[in-house]
Amino acid sequence: MLNSYLNRYFSQTIVDRILEKKNVINKEDIITLLSTKNPSKKNKIFNEACRIKEKYVSNKIYLRGLIEFSNICQKNCLYCGIRSGNKSIYRYELSDKEIIKLAIIAWQNKYGSIIIQSGERSDKYFIYRIDRLLKEIKKNTNYEIGITLCCGEQTEETYRRWFESGAHRYLLRIETSNKNLYNKIHPNDEVHSYNRRIKALSNIKKTGYQTGTGVMIGLPFQTLNDLANDLLFIKEFDIDMVGMGPYIEHKNTPLFKYKRLLMSNEERFNLTLLMIAILRIIMKDINIAATTALQTINIIGREKGIKAGANVIMPNITPTKYRNRYLLYDNKPYLDENNSKYKNYLYTQIETNGNGIAYGEWGDPKHYFNRIELQL
Ligand code: 5AD
Ligand code: SF4
Repeated sequence: MLNSYLNRYFSQTIVDRILEKKNVINKEDIITLLSTKNPSKKNKIFNEACRIKEKYVSNKIYLRGLIEFSNICQKNCLYCGIRSGNKSIYRYELSDKEIIKLAIIAWQNKYGSIIIQSGERSDKYFIYRIDRLLKEIKKNTNYEIGITLCCGEQTEETYRRWFESGAHRYLLRIETSNKNLYNKIHPNDEVHSYNRRIKALSNIKKTGYQTGTGVMIGLPFQTLNDLANDLLFIKEFDIDMVGMGPYIEHKNTPLFKYKRLLMSNEERFNLTLLMIAILRIIMKDINIAATTALQTINIIGREKGIKAGANVIMPNITPTKYRNRYLLYDNKPYLDENNSKYKNYLYTQIETNGNGIAYGEWGDPKHYFNRIELQL
């Protein structure tokens, strides 16, 4: 008996042993998993993540039609191509009519949900405009389309106003859970404060939104310890939805000067896949997106993200004429993802991998309902 136990113990790798621990995976374990380089060990991690995905959230892939409706931003994050300090880009704003038309197209194409994303603004015109748009979109889609907002830090009152007008999910990336690193990649002032961001994320959750966050992977100065802490932060905060992607440098940003400190694109890509898989293992019932930044490094990056445990993709339905103006980072793809030829290709890829696209479903994160139930 003891012999067979010892035989089994010594034939297992450390990755096997961590994966068997399931709920008690700690920071050291996460760092070990993130350091995995061997392809067959990595596959074990991805397979375990997919097994958990299938068991807890099914193998359905949910679609969110992404509308990048304006690149006007009052902030000046040191890594982002649409920061207010970048004077070399044209600023745009889609009209209400254009946005509502895109929402209707998403609804007719059975996307289930849309994401309305823009740079951050806190002026009255912007707040009332979003409010009006939410109501109009709901009315024009027979109250059937789900709406996620991704419009940055706002007051608690604004979050509540938008929630009451029809948005039920909100994404606000923490970018990094390491306060020192956060300060290094943002200007040092009140509007770019780490504490303010945490407060905003708490207010989003408190308002009742399905709450999403995320981080960038492969930032200059970032360590595996930071990334392990990011995953633990997401778990501790009891987040419902996550979008994480590789950091990709943009030449017209201050952070570009640290390019020589960066890992290769391939390393950032592989690390992102591991982050997705480990997150799925430690937070079984959340929604995890395979992001555009993954696709930027590898043309089938999002499909690989799904094979690592993600269950959401966000086809970009912003008209292509605006697409080259929402360049958060270099080489962001311009593809018209509502184009039927491209859409069929992407969906066939996903379906041949044993996952099914959930057409016309909101695809709410199961975690949200599980955590609400626990609070009652
Ligand atoms: N590389 C990767 N992601 C970026 N974002 C902004 N700039 C970059 C970049 N250079 C991400 C941030 C932000 C989201 C809208 O885009 O995480 O929250
Ligand atoms: Fe604005 Fe967001 Fe870019 Fe920061 S990351 S500059 S808030 S769009």
